Amino acid sequence: MCSPANIFLETETMLVQLTVNGKPVQADVPDNTLLVQMIRDTLHLTGTHVGCDTSQCGACTVMMNGNAVKSCSVLAASANGADIGTIEGLAQQDGTLHPMQAAFKECHGLQCGYCTPGMVMSSIDLVNKNPDASEQEIRDSLEGNICRCTGYQNIVRAVQTGRDAMMA
Ligand code: FES
Ligand code: FES
Repeated sequence: MCSPANIFLETETMLVQLTVNGKPVQADVPDNTLLVQMIRDTLHLTGTHVGCDTSQCGACTVMMNGNAVKSCSVLAASANGADIGTIEGLAQQDGTLHPMQAAFKECHGLQCGYCTPGMVMSSIDLVNKNPDASEQEIRDSLEGNICRCTGYQNIVRAVQTGRDAMMA
């Protein structure tokens, strides 16, 4: 029986079933596991990054049922049954980059690359939802993604270039 002192420390495991990058996966994880922890530590998809403890940086952004979400702010248990897309699922089998990935490379939209997976996922989500986004709308939509080393100018240019390629 839980005493009041340890009631918040005890966890149980839960079977979480997901579709990740088109493949069904499942794992028993403690019920306080964050989605980003399951993606990185259990599924070993380490392209999704953790850059903060406060849901601010966006490095952990993945697609969940067609929407970009910060996977550090989602419990794996609450994602049970979801369709998840990570940066590893964007390129084609032969290694051809997704147009948004190619645009970040071409436009020098990255320097260290730590923020880039989250930037790319958020940018694809933006293009899917607002393909005619103005420069200001692109800047506004990336407010939740923090880059600490590249000028945002090149990132915005990359999003515009990637958008054009996606819409071509
Ligand atoms: Fe998720 Fe920073 S690690 S927002
Ligand atoms: Fe280094 Fe964005 S490229 S944090």
